[in-house]
Amino acid sequence: MIVCHCEVVSDRDVVESIDAGARTVAQVCGATGAGRNCGGCVFSVKRLLCEHEKSFSATPFTEVAGATG
Ligand code: FES
Repeated sequence: MIVCHCEVVSDRDVVESIDAGARTVAQVCGATGAGRNCGGCVFSVKRLLCEHEKSFSATPFTEVAGATG
C-alpha cells in the first residue's frame, strides 16, 4: 500500500525504516522521503509507528520540519 503518494513511499518502506532504527516521524520521513511535500501522509506514518512501537520504547511522535497540511 502506498502511504505517501507524493514521493511514492509504501507501508513496507516505512516498516523497513522502523526495522532499520527509525523511531520518530522525522526519522522515518528522512529515511523514506515521505512527508516532504504536502504532508498528507504524516498521520499514516504516525499510525505505522504506533503499530510497531511494541518493538521499541522511544516516543514515536515528533513533528516533521517543513511539512504542511
Ligand atoms: S502524501 Fe506524503 S508528502 Fe504528500
